[in-house]
Amino acid sequence: KHNIVTCTAPVNIAVIKYWGKRNEELILPINSSLSVTLHQDQLKTTTTVATSRSFQEDQIWLNGKEEDITHPRLQSCLREIRRLARKRRNDGDSPLDPSILSQKVHICSVNNFPTAAGLASSAAGFACLVYTLARVFGIEGELSGIARQGSGSACRSMYGGFVQWIMGQKDDGKDSLAQQVEPETHWPDLRILVLVASAEKKSVGSTSGMQTSVQTSCLLMHRAESVVPGRMEEMIEAVRGKNFAAFADLTMKDSNQFHATCLDTYPPIFYLNSVSQQVINLVHRFNRHYGETRLAYTFDAGPNAVIYTLQQHVPEFVQAVQHFFPPERNGGQFIQGLPVNQAA
Ligand code: DP6
Repeated sequence: KHNIVTCTAPVNIAVIKYWGKRNEELILPINSSLSVTLHQDQLKTTTTVATSRSFQEDQIWLNGKEEDITHPRLQSCLREIRRLARKRRNDGDSPLDPSILSQKVHICSVNNFPTAAGLASSAAGFACLVYTLARVFGIEGELSGIARQGSGSACRSMYGGFVQWIMGQKDDGKDSLAQQVEPETHWPDLRILVLVASAEKKSVGSTSGMQTSVQTSCLLMHRAESVVPGRMEEMIEAVRGKNFAAFADLTMKDSNQFHATCLDTYPPIFYLNSVSQQVINLVHRFNRHYGETRLAYTFDAGPNAVIYTLQQHVPEFVQAVQHFFPPERNGGQFIQGLPVNQAA
């Protein structure tokens, strides 16, 4: 007998960035972070998990290619899910066929956007994996602590809307969890636009990049200890009050400080390219032109810009982009508008 479940999970885009771990194995961060989860139908991962008595071993395929199932982070997620499933069975409250615990899983996962181009593919990927495995093994409740062990930013994709990842204090990470700040319906005019400056695989992955930053950047500890705590409070207030100017200013400053930290890393890490810098200039000129903050940019571990704006400003912005970045000059570059909405 087969058991098969398919789920999707969207990407999230941080406005207060996570960068740096205090525990590599459990993936515990040195600062809290906050993000917005995209709509289900936009940038997303779709994962199918099947279990069967006839499967000889656990196996995983990513975008059609078989990958190494022994990867430690995959193993952490599988182990945690099976441990919870066993606990439920032993507590006698599992609705499932108990033999599922002895069965192997086959996992198939596909992204509808370029992998590892700095578009948070690991976040959607691990969120989706954990959510789908939980459904297969009949587990309910808090799952962000497991998704976190796949990839830090993945814990935030377990919820829709505006989500904070509270760094926590405990050594075992039990209090390092994601929490919804406001649901996706809270700020219906908010829009996210992705400007793909390059779909190439990023030069330095976030895992190793933040490791080098922790070892070499003194700006990073200053940021984690003295800047982010206050910024988290201000950001939550801006989100709750739907204060776009405050939200946007904090978002841009935090992106800039994250990339300053990358530059302060030794040897330095450059995620932004000349197109990214032109986008930054365009956004500031645009805001100055209108005499108010109507756009915000943010960049993760790659050159692609993510723009936050309000629905009524999207047409002017798209026009400005088409004027300054005509498609014939930027082969393959596209721009996409994404409403903010619900997660898995
Ligand atoms: C720049 O979550 O990809 O996107 O925990 O090592 O898997 P690991 O790192 P990852 O880092 C994301 C970094 C970031 C900022 C953010 O999303 O908060």
